[in-house]
Amino acid sequence: MQHLATIAPADVRQIWALLGQIPDPEVPVLTITDLGMVRSVAQQGEGWVIGFTPTYSGCPATEHLLGEIRRVMTENGYTPVHIVLRLDPPWTTDWMSPDARERLRQYGATAAANPLITLNVFEVAMTTFHSLTVAKVEPETRDAVTITFAVPDALQSAYAFRPGQHLTLKTRLGNEELRRCYSICRGARPGEISVAVKAIDGGRFSNYARQEIKQGMALEVMVPQGLFGYQPQADRRGNYLAIAAGSGITPMLAIVETTLGTEADSQFTVIYGNRSSQSMMFRQALADLKDRYPTRLQLVCLFSQETLDSDLLYGRINGEKLQELSRTLINFSQFDEAFICGPAAMMDEAETTLLALGMPKKTLHLERFNTPGSSVRRAASVQAQGQTVTVRQDGRDRQVTLTADDESILDAALRQGADLPYACKGGVCATCKCKVLRGNVSMATNYSLEADELAAGYVLSCQALPITPDVIVDFDAKGMA
Ligand code: FES
Repeated sequence: MQHLATIAPADVRQIWALLGQIPDPEVPVLTITDLGMVRSVAQQGEGWVIGFTPTYSGCPATEHLLGEIRRVMTENGYTPVHIVLRLDPPWTTDWMSPDARERLRQYGATAAANPLITLNVFEVAMTTFHSLTVAKVEPETRDAVTITFAVPDALQSAYAFRPGQHLTLKTRLGNEELRRCYSICRGARPGEISVAVKAIDGGRFSNYARQEIKQGMALEVMVPQGLFGYQPQADRRGNYLAIAAGSGITPMLAIVETTLGTEADSQFTVIYGNRSSQSMMFRQALADLKDRYPTRLQLVCLFSQETLDSDLLYGRINGEKLQELSRTLINFSQFDEAFICGPAAMMDEAETTLLALGMPKKTLHLERFNTPGSSVRRAASVQAQGQTVTVRQDGRDRQVTLTADDESILDAALRQGADLPYACKGGVCATCKCKVLRGNVSMATNYSLEADELAAGYVLSCQALPITPDVIVDFDAKGMA
């Protein structure tokens, strides 16, 4: 599946103009665009990605400015918004516009020449693993567990998350290092963070997690990642829809709980499909939410293998069922935003149907599960078999030859001993980003790179296969030139 970033020029100009109204709190005569702190604006999949560089790493105004960017974007309907902090290259006064320099001069200050600041703390933090202790393991269904990690005080801010984001867990099984992403399944709670893991047939990590992970164990856990989700605003009044099937409910639970808890006048409708009530994850948690918000939460549960009195609630979530619900129970045109997560076919049908029912595309937010090993990618790997790729890391070049088993350049390099960065292997997190210096590659999926990054030659190595000979990829590359 090809899913590359696109830019809508009118929206991008509008966003630049909106961000150009945010003053810098330390130099209020200048805005963040005057200062050159806004690096890029791009539409990425279902959301918007803002590249942002503070004037120096650790600047105390950064959190305030990020909040302002989120506020301005949200108030103007550009959601979800994801802000990528870039500290490399670091901000310098050279980035200020001539007009901004003049206003600064009139303000009584002068921009110092090129004050380079080089601490890249934010970039380091974005892909850092920490060893967290398992505080609790709770069964959800026969196949699924919720794993809660204790978050020490020193790491509270590192594990702050936007509802809808995921954690990457890492472990070694046998001789192999495995990493998997799991959605955070509860709203924020002091000192802890929880994910849900559903065991899948043949899933090594998920079965290990369900059977072997116990209270008191320590696990390597990456800080929260992901563009999907919603950051509720206390002063917002919204009407939201979640459509989930199976374990697709996991990120929804965090979104619904946080939204209803934060936005006192907002409403949520959740359409949740399962085979049966026995296989339904978070049955009790949803019932508790319904008890807490009886008038603001509408819960519509569908079962495909359980006999019910109501034909309406029998069956899978698909286009036909959503159309039926729109005729009888739910007015889809009332929703401000919709969040969709589940199997690919369900998500595609839900998206098509919601568009047909009048919801604008920018209000639809989809979270796709990682799909390593899809038939498309396996077919591509056969074509790439035997190709040699040069992988540059830490200034050293390594020749990597692809075999029929390698689904990506990353896979081939890891198999041949390279220690490359990665997390999700699903095109979501961009941890595996590298730059193509020579030749061409094709990517199966991209949910994370911005348009300007693609234009600069960056690719996701977990999704990339060579399509020309003599490809060189560089994991050290940082700049956009
Ligand atoms: S490892 Fe996450 S996008 Fe490649």
